[in-house]
Amino acid sequence: MKSEETMLKELFIDELKDIYWAEKHLTKALPKMKKGSTSEELANAFDEHLAVTEEHVARVEQVFEMLDMTARAKKCEAMDGLVQEAQNLMEELPKGTAVRDAGLIIAAQKVEHYEIAAYGSLVQLAKTMGENEIADLLQQTLDEEKEADQLLTELAVSGINIGADNEPE
Ligand SMILES: [Fe+2]
Ligand SMILES: [Fe+2]
Repeated sequence: MKSEETMLKELFIDELKDIYWAEKHLTKALPKMKKGSTSEELANAFDEHLAVTEEHVARVEQVFEMLDMTARAKKCEAMDGLVQEAQNLMEELPKGTAVRDAGLIIAAQKVEHYEIAAYGSLVQLAKTMGENEIADLLQQTLDEEKEADQLLTELAVSGINIGADNEPE
């Protein structure tokens, strides 16, 4: 039987492949979400998060390197579904409305929460394995995901939701 240590490392690598796929998938989805936004603030937020997400991809590649491995992605069904939901919202909610922005914010926050859960777990696993440098690197991404989530909440409460509420049906 494999040792617990080996199994834990395999689990970590599996989760790393999952988030690698998820981040790369997001880099393709964010420009569409930006284009689908009504308000400039939300469009800018998606634009900024695209740049941040590209860094997240690079950071995951760095972690693979630190483990002496080539970066490999494994399809993340959850991120695939979350991005599909954002796509559906854009098809259902009319262009140029605040309600569409409110929907996009919800979709984007679901994405951030998935990433927060994924990185939170990866940081914990890395620490358990004694890989503190890797843990620190992934912690930076975790902090940035939390910031993105916070920014989306601010955008929602600062007017987009109120605007959506005042729109005629
Ligand atoms: Fe990310
Ligand atoms: Fe993110």
